[in-house]
Amino acid sequence: VLLIAVLFIAAYLIGSVSTAVWLGKAFYGIDIREHGSGNSGATNTFRVLGKKPGTAVMLIDIFKGWVATSLAGLLVTFEGIAPENLVVFQLIMGALGVLGHIFPIYERFKGGKGVATLLGMMLAIEPVVALMCIAIFVIVLIASKYVSLGSITAALAFPLLLLLPRFHPENPILIIFGFILFAVVALTHRKNINRLIAGEESKANIRIGRKR
Ligand code: G3P
Repeated sequence: VLLIAVLFIAAYLIGSVSTAVWLGKAFYGIDIREHGSGNSGATNTFRVLGKKPGTAVMLIDIFKGWVATSLAGLLVTFEGIAPENLVVFQLIMGALGVLGHIFPIYERFKGGKGVATLLGMMLAIEPVVALMCIAIFVIVLIASKYVSLGSITAALAFPLLLLLPRFHPENPILIIFGFILFAVVALTHRKNINRLIAGEESKANIRIGRKR
């Protein structure tokens, strides 16, 4: 039981690692939360600081979600959790990681929107469906140029794809959590949603093909 408590706290602390804020402060002398959309995430790092730091933040934030979720595997080895119940602990720890990202303890609880960390969690639990969500994200992003719309659509696609017989998980709690986490993403994107409706959301600067 002690290990369960330690791992739950660890998952939250891992999620709390504020990659975008720390990278911005350490290498560029800025607080990313005072620039662009004000979000501490990969998208805003791409927007404000460029491709390399944006990619680094994206990969580290995905990795955070993957680690926080995967650590649940220790419970099978050391706490005798039945393998069929593992997914419950993966979900709790992944969700704690996502909450850590959104409300980081080290940064006065002002973090990001949770998308990359959620993706890391999905990759740890259902990699095939997670890859399909990435594909959906990319398609929506290229078609609309809105990262936020891609994020919201991909977060909704996860539980919806799990409803299909082909991907239906053994434990339906995964689908329930999927919808709850979509609601969390919708909440963290409420300003983006308002801007999308008003036609004021900023578009990503994507060029396909050769650079001009
Ligand atoms: O993952 C965050 C993205 O969906 C929106 O970021 O900075 O445009 O609010 P941003």
